[in-house]
Amino acid sequence: MPQPIFEVRNLAVAVNDMDAARHRPEHGVMIEPYGPALPYGWVEAVRDVSFEVAPGEVLAVVGESGSGKTLSVMGSLGLLGIGAKVARGTVIFDGAQIRPTKELAERRQRRFRRRVMKRERFMEESLDDDWRRVMGTEVGVLFQNALGGWNPVSIIGDQAGETLDEHTELSLAEIEERVLDSLGEVQLPKASKFVAYPDELSRGQAQRAMLAAALVKGPRLLVADEPLTGLDAGVAASILNLIREMQSRRKMAMIFITHDLAQVAALATRVAIMYGGRIVEVGEVGTVFRNPLHPYTEGLLGALPRPGVTRLHPIEGDVPKITDVPVDRCALIERCSYATDVCTAALPRLVAADASRAVACFRSDEFELRGI
Ligand SMILES: Nc1ncnc2c1ncn2[C@@H]1O[C@H](COP(=O)(O)OP(=O)(O)OP(=O)(O)O)[C@@H](O)[C@H]1O
Ligand SMILES: [Mg+2]
Repeated sequence: MPQPIFEVRNLAVAVNDMDAARHRPEHGVMIEPYGPALPYGWVEAVRDVSFEVAPGEVLAVVGESGSGKTLSVMGSLGLLGIGAKVARGTVIFDGAQIRPTKELAERRQRRFRRRVMKRERFMEESLDDDWRRVMGTEVGVLFQNALGGWNPVSIIGDQAGETLDEHTELSLAEIEERVLDSLGEVQLPKASKFVAYPDELSRGQAQRAMLAAALVKGPRLLVADEPLTGLDAGVAASILNLIREMQSRRKMAMIFITHDLAQVAALATRVAIMYGGRIVEVGEVGTVFRNPLHPYTEGLLGALPRPGVTRLHPIEGDVPKITDVPVDRCALIERCSYATDVCTAALPRLVAADASRAVACFRSDEFELRGI
């Protein structure tokens, strides 16, 4: 594999959840480097998450709703809102370690945060200059809710050019030209959309404009959090094609969060499957789909509608609440037909199954699971 541009090691993200905190065993445990302990009411939701992505490669992050996809990826970028916080982990961009900060969230929430920070030492973190630069110039982000990513009282053109203004020496005329080019590239009527306010755009246009704003800085990493959710099938397909074309033309590394396996097949090189706040399987898309190693992956694939299959097989049971996931045994036990005593004895960690694949299941080499 080529040298990764973005690497995340052992990331843990905590969320503020008073109910869950009351019965979590690790509550009050030492958590470095963010202070002596998780403050009261905070519990770990995402744990031991490691992944990397290389230039030209698309890593899909897949899992049912509430499995921790957004927390993991946005956490690694320092883009979590209030109520969620990186508790530990290492993040490396282009060989240099950076501390994820809350730059974007902070800008929106500065006033509120000042009050919060006085109360909670946990919330304190230095704003890392390298991180600011990387986020401002190297990373483009498409948020889960296209309209939510925009400031409603400022025109699209100004917002799309903001980071160039902050992080480069370009003149305003040059920035305007780049933004117009970028809007044209995503097939928006550039002159009229440059001066449009976000609420004048349709959902599809808002997502295209978000892509234009992400691309305008010429990022080396593009991160998209379910960018097609809520769009009708035709619009979704054209935006998916546009994203794919931009990614491959610019040879960007990309992290693509989705719960749609068809989108994974269409776009991704590798896939990481998440369950209960952990990655349970990761590998090259074709290999994982043909020959899954984790029973949960088999379940996801088995639930896919296919020609000739009249009855779908959903995974039995409910998705666990992420803050109630067990930490001393496999989290899938109740929903897994392969589970035995070994699965209750300890927590299965993600370990390499072969050169390109890793799985977190004690029994993965005992069965031939069904792929597609
Ligand atoms: N800011 C927050 N404050 C408190 N709890 C949170 C916060 N963000 C997420 N959580 C909890 O963590 C869970 C996982 O969140 P996350 O957004 O990562 O899920 P996801 O896999 O992206 O799901 P979806 O497909 O629905 O976007 C949520 O269901 C919620 O219980
Ligand atoms: Mg999400």
